[in-house]
Amino acid sequence: MSEHAFQICINPKCRKTYGISEIHHACPACGELLDVGYDWDKLPVPKKLSDFEQYWPNRNIPQRFSGVWRFHHLLPFVPIEDCVTIGEGQTILQNAPFMAEYVGLKRGKLHLQYEGMNPSGSFKDNGMAGAFTHGKLVGASRAACASTGNTSASLALYAAVTRLMKAVIFIGSGKIAYGKLSQALDYGAKTIQIIGDFDDAMSRVQEVSKKLRIYLVNSVNPFRLEGQKTIMFRVLEQLRWNIPDWIVVPGGNLGNSSSFGKAFLELKQLGLLEKIPRLAVINAEGADTLYRLVEKEGLRWNGGEYDKTLIEKFYADMDTEGRRADTIASAIEINRPVNLSKCLRAIDACRGVVREVSEQEILDAKAQVGQGGLGCEPASAASLAGTKKLITEGVITPDERVVCVLTGHQLKDPNATVAYHRMDESLYDKYLRVRGVTETPFANEPITVPNQLEVILDALK
Ligand code: F0G
Repeated sequence: MSEHAFQICINPKCRKTYGISEIHHACPACGELLDVGYDWDKLPVPKKLSDFEQYWPNRNIPQRFSGVWRFHHLLPFVPIEDCVTIGEGQTILQNAPFMAEYVGLKRGKLHLQYEGMNPSGSFKDNGMAGAFTHGKLVGASRAACASTGNTSASLALYAAVTRLMKAVIFIGSGKIAYGKLSQALDYGAKTIQIIGDFDDAMSRVQEVSKKLRIYLVNSVNPFRLEGQKTIMFRVLEQLRWNIPDWIVVPGGNLGNSSSFGKAFLELKQLGLLEKIPRLAVINAEGADTLYRLVEKEGLRWNGGEYDKTLIEKFYADMDTEGRRADTIASAIEINRPVNLSKCLRAIDACRGVVREVSEQEILDAKAQVGQGGLGCEPASAASLAGTKKLITEGVITPDERVVCVLTGHQLKDPNATVAYHRMDESLYDKYLRVRGVTETPFANEPITVPNQLEVILDALK
């Protein structure tokens, strides 16, 4: 355990600190979220970002190979040799000239950060490496999460590989793409399917983990968000330490956006970054709590004194009107994002904006990502769709350098993909038509032919 790391309440009026070996989901004094904090002046911090390159030859050491722990100096809450890794973070930043054209950027200006290349196929593994490292430190034997699918796949995988904790997952019934559910089942997680949605599962898992002293790995766990900071470090690493103008990321429970904001604030504080990139958080229209609160209601971080009454009223109205999140991007189908306050802080630090995109925009963007190469799941494509929208609005200009985070692998949700490509009209009706997707301009429809050579040859003319 590092004597120079602690947990600290993000509420500027509270700022109570707690030891690293304590387990909290929120500040016991005031109920706000906690950060992991560091006495940076007592820690060996690199003088410039390129100093990290000296560790590249040490890839035979698992922690130096890890795309999370090779930045250990920037998340040093335990010594590097105690950090848990299963090889996460071997991701690439792809320059995507064809998609740049689609969104309206100049060629060479659009980059896609492929987090689907992680061991469980999503960005969650960055955070799970952090959470498992802390779980090991506190000696936890079971770990739990509520999930729209990817957190549960990641938890189940880390539990299966490391055997440090047993996995318990809470999911909403019928709310999770089969690619993700199949991972959790295959990796042996105890799976509790609650008749309800993600928000129901989230509030139950918090109760249950407190009662049964099960270690919680949702993004209210500040050690998880430490791991997710490294997504931004890898983006900078692959841009040879140049700073992009924009980071665009889908917003669900708002863990990623929160951790990116913290990463940039810390880099700035440490003198390792001249400017902070701007942040765009993209909601689906069917799950747009952040968009409405920030862009319609004017909710701001306000030095930590954000308007809680406004949020409470928003949620109360949501319940009275029976509004529940619904989107093909099931990963971000969330009503009450648990990291809302930290995300407000990130938006403030990064001069952020929030946008919402339609189901049609998400799926068209997803088809474009697929045509460009590695593909992604629907929620991830919200970042590309959001970029396109922001360029149309003139908020992002065509010669700015934009990084879209593609959060999850293409194979996570095959139903959405084959429905779009009109493989099966009943799937199209079930998943897309009901959600108002009327066109599939980028569909790559399969051609069905009788089993006759002449007809097949004809089809290939
Ligand atoms: N993209 C994907 C593929 C996700 O799985 C998630 C979240 C998000 C984006 C949103 O990220 O919560 O940091 O804003 N999935 C969570 C889960 C909720 O349970 O797997 P966020």
